Amino acid sequence: MTSRILVMPGDGVGPEICREAVRVLDVLAHDHGLDIELDEALVGGAAVDSAGDPLPEDSLAAAREADAILFGAIGGPKWDSQPRDKRPESGLLRLRSELGLFANLRPAILYSQLAHASSLKKEIVAGLDIMIVRELTGGIYFGKPAGQGTTDAGRREAWNTMRYDEDEIVRIGRRAFEIARARGGRLCSVDKANVLDVSQLWRDVMNELATAYPDVELSHMYVDNAAMQLVRAPKQFDTIVTTNLFGDILSDTAAMLTGSIGMLPSASLDAAGCGMYEPVHGSAPDIAGQGVANPLATILSVAMMLRYTLERGDLADKVETAVGAVLDRGLRTRDIMDDETQVASTQEMGGAIVDMLR
Ligand code: NAI
Ligand code: MG
Repeated sequence: MTSRILVMPGDGVGPEICREAVRVLDVLAHDHGLDIELDEALVGGAAVDSAGDPLPEDSLAAAREADAILFGAIGGPKWDSQPRDKRPESGLLRLRSELGLFANLRPAILYSQLAHASSLKKEIVAGLDIMIVRELTGGIYFGKPAGQGTTDAGRREAWNTMRYDEDEIVRIGRRAFEIARARGGRLCSVDKANVLDVSQLWRDVMNELATAYPDVELSHMYVDNAAMQLVRAPKQFDTIVTTNLFGDILSDTAAMLTGSIGMLPSASLDAAGCGMYEPVHGSAPDIAGQGVANPLATILSVAMMLRYTLERGDLADKVETAVGAVLDRGLRTRDIMDDETQVASTQEMGGAIVDMLR
């Protein structure tokens, strides 16, 4: 069956990096039997400029029709003074919530060739390969009640609510167990069960789910300890599952262990396995249009798309292997350069991956 892929390039370096990722999809379709149909839609500042809305109706409709979305990046100084609902970011947030993308997958992989880029010692991070599964549509960012007011004593107050129901925990938990099963077979659930009632429910549900996954080893860790362990000995982790708030912070921490923002992909999945795939980085307005952006985060997002939506893990492996091989050859975009390597443009880097896949 033909899978429909919607490309949403967005702003800044978005179009440049998406162009290279599309070349990768094209070669997989042409040479490796990947059955896809590509379409493109406006999002972000580009959509504000042409349609007055960061997520126009026809873009949202196309996104709903698609099996997978390849998303570049949105935003930039040009739109910073717009009212909130006209800002590029609100297009991305609406897309996530309209599509019910509750599972955010954030791998932190450090290619051994780039171990120099990390701020940690090489022996602590070389070969790092962890996956953080963050709940994305619930928890304290969406819990009610939330608001601001005044106390009886006339002092200002504000509140948010961290709330999860059982079904929300089960669906993210199942996804995480399945991902852990396909990786190293170890899942660490991160919570604050010593203090929070909502964490106690989270922990109970994870323990109940574990009986259905006897081949996955489940452990629990308090979030404060997890933050310490991530920078002390990150390689102890395989797959981590956690709430929206804790996952927001821990996934950025883990990502930075790699030191290379231009190398980090992500996926956000719905219940049916459809999903949106995007680099972790933003629109990089400081380098946009210069042809120097690293396209590998976006190309590695294509690998995640192949694995998690298109069910072509074989091709995902091929793309990831090609990235390693190109790094082995010493090819580097400017952001991951060191003294012994050869500088490549966005297009040269994409071309090198395409050549490897031929
Ligand atoms: P950024 O990630 O765009 O850039 C941070 C730094 O990393 C910059 O120096 C940039 O040149 C560099 N960088 C980023 N991606 C790179 C790549 N592929 N290759 C080489 N270098 C790269 O974050 P920043 O500067 O905070 O935000 C810029 C704009 O992007 C803002 O408007 C922000 O709102 C938006 N943004 C959008 C996101 C998204 O679309 N999901 C996520 C984060 C920020
Ligand atoms: Mg964040």
